[in-house]
Amino acid sequence: MEKLTGLKKIKTAVFISGAGSNLKNIIKFSKIKKSPISINLIISNTHLAKGLRFADQFKIQKKLFNFKNFKNTERNILLLLKKKKIKFICLAGFMRILSKEFIKKFDGKIINIHPSLLPKYKGLNTHIRAIRNNDKFAGCTAHYVSAKLDSGKIILQKKIKITTKDNPTSLAKKILKLEHKLYPTAIMKIFN
Ligand code: GRF
Repeated sequence: MEKLTGLKKIKTAVFISGAGSNLKNIIKFSKIKKSPISINLIISNTHLAKGLRFADQFKIQKKLFNFKNFKNTERNILLLLKKKKIKFICLAGFMRILSKEFIKKFDGKIINIHPSLLPKYKGLNTHIRAIRNNDKFAGCTAHYVSAKLDSGKIILQKKIKITTKDNPTSLAKKILKLEHKLYPTAIMKIFN
């Protein structure tokens, strides 16, 4: 990844589908001086994404794409990204799988946060799977996005112990907190 030159922050888009706690956290991080990125666009595939409220709260442009016609949608997203001079993409709870053509256009410039210790538990329901398997540890992974789901190069991971008291809900809560620490650290690692 290119190093930061001067004081200009790298224009970044965040893609969401849900609550947007990672989005909020990344926006806050982007505002601190040492952050290499600024958040200039929020994209969602659904108007139900509660995280869209952070676009209004922080006065960032938001745009909905319904992905009914996948190819057209991706083409329109790429046009918007170009128009906005976006150079980096953070997926944060985005529930659509981007095509390999799209990923190629932003090669090495799309990252994601996943709530498991990859390569374990790609896809959904990570916490219940970790508990059912009696895993001793769970955690989260920041990784580059490649054409294969949750399989791109790992940037950073953070882990915690699974206790006998844990259930999928308690574990999800703990890991989300961990994600909020990990995502900005991973972004710093990429650009520094
Ligand atoms: C997080 O657990 C993230 O790892 C996963 O989806 C969840 C999104 O949470 N990909 P939020 O919308 O950022 O609160």
